[in-house]
Amino acid sequence: MAKTQPVKIKAPRGKLGVLIPGMGAVGTTFIAGVEAIRRGLGKPFGSLTQMATIRLGKRTENRTPLIKDFVPLAKLDDIVFGGWDIFPANAYESALQAGVLDKTLLDQLKKPLAAVKPMKAVFDPAYLHNISGPNIKKKGSKMDKAQALMDDIKQFKKKTGASRLVMLWCGSTEVYHQPASCHQSLKAFEKGLREDDPNIAPSQIYAYAALKLGIPFGNGAPNLTNDVPALDELARNRGVPHAGKDFKTGQTLMKTIVSPGLKARMLGVTGWFSTNILGNRDGEVLDDPGSFKTKEQTKLSVLDYILQPNLYPELYKDIVHVVRINYYPPRGDAKEGWDNVDIFGWLGYPMQIKINFLCRDSILAAPIVLDLVLFLDLAQRAGMKGIQEWLSFYFKAPLTAPGLYPEHDLFIQLMKLKNTLRWMRGEELITHLGLEYYD
Ligand SMILES: NC(=O)c1ccc[n+]([C@@H]2O[C@H](COP(=O)([O-])OP(=O)(O)OC[C@H]3O[C@@H](n4cnc5c(N)ncnc54)[C@H](O)[C@@H]3O)[C@@H](O)[C@H]2O)c1
Repeated sequence: MAKTQPVKIKAPRGKLGVLIPGMGAVGTTFIAGVEAIRRGLGKPFGSLTQMATIRLGKRTENRTPLIKDFVPLAKLDDIVFGGWDIFPANAYESALQAGVLDKTLLDQLKKPLAAVKPMKAVFDPAYLHNISGPNIKKKGSKMDKAQALMDDIKQFKKKTGASRLVMLWCGSTEVYHQPASCHQSLKAFEKGLREDDPNIAPSQIYAYAALKLGIPFGNGAPNLTNDVPALDELARNRGVPHAGKDFKTGQTLMKTIVSPGLKARMLGVTGWFSTNILGNRDGEVLDDPGSFKTKEQTKLSVLDYILQPNLYPELYKDIVHVVRINYYPPRGDAKEGWDNVDIFGWLGYPMQIKINFLCRDSILAAPIVLDLVLFLDLAQRAGMKGIQEWLSFYFKAPLTAPGLYPEHDLFIQLMKLKNTLRWMRGEELITHLGLEYYD
């Protein structure tokens, strides 16, 4: 494909403030990881922005720079952290409690981590049943709370001297709820905030505060949050990028790696049974049926979109797809997932695949947080606004334009991400046609 004009991208000058509602296992593993990498105590494995290359031009040109040398990203040394949590523990204490990273490593990072103290959270027990904490904003309407968050953000910016900000929800999974009339337009949403509409969840108040201030927003949980017309309207009005939802880690990552392969070879699937044991605070929250339902929705949608049973009814129409998560404290953050996949091949002969993934949830999620922060900041500086579908690569349930089905296939998502970067820099998009090599 022909080259286009490069997009004008502002240089990443000054500090980038990362604001995290929910400083639990994922949030603190991310913060501690960045601090460790800065000091040479670890490597950013799992992060495309830090480790991946991008091919440019023809295969014979041998141009494969690192992504971070190809597009102007913020440097890790320029990142400063802030956040909110319903518990007052600082990032050091919270990371110790999460038990993801070794104490010896955390002790080496104690000073910078202990300095990250969570601001008072916006909380509503109707949206989170299994946990509650004391570090919350108590007074006022939902609009007053949005205003209080905006005041927190302005103070954080002043205190740290950050020139740009990004907000990424790493908070607990809220109970399942569907879009209501207050979510349909910005006007209705702001009325709902003033009138304390029960359909507005805490995560939506954070998203509103960020977008209103022109700050890019991403959602790492399966909550509805920014997946509503009102907040997309706000993002577009303010010229801000946003993305979501639910970090693609663990079992769903495996599913989106394996299922495109089965479909590529036209192998049928009759059933996919997935079960997990998980013992961290996320597992405790997901033990509540309301929060689990939110998670189940994003986990279940993946196979339908990848396998396209409407196009291939003989192969995929009647798949039995079951997802279970069991809270099992002894395992902490070290989740174990089992998948049993019943497949069939030539003449319908059945076969089985078993996947037993002993993963570390937050170790898989932290590099996603880093990449999303850096790419959302890049998108903002490149003047991209509204839903950022090119970041689907990182999500279980990617946001898309209304009426457009999401692309779940990890490899298509990766191609889309890299082609978007090529497009930004005015490089040829890569189609893999490759006929020119044989002319
Ligand atoms: N770990 C993964 O691999 C992974 C993958 C996909 C999605 N997620 C999602 O990311 C989120 C974080 O996961 P985790 O393992 O860090 O969970 P966690 O329970 O360790 O951390 C969540 C934190 O959010 C805080 N919180 C809850 N409500 C809040 C509010 N209204 N304002 C501010 N803070 C609030 C909690 O107190 C807790 O400290 C969850 O929603 C989870 O489902 C995680």
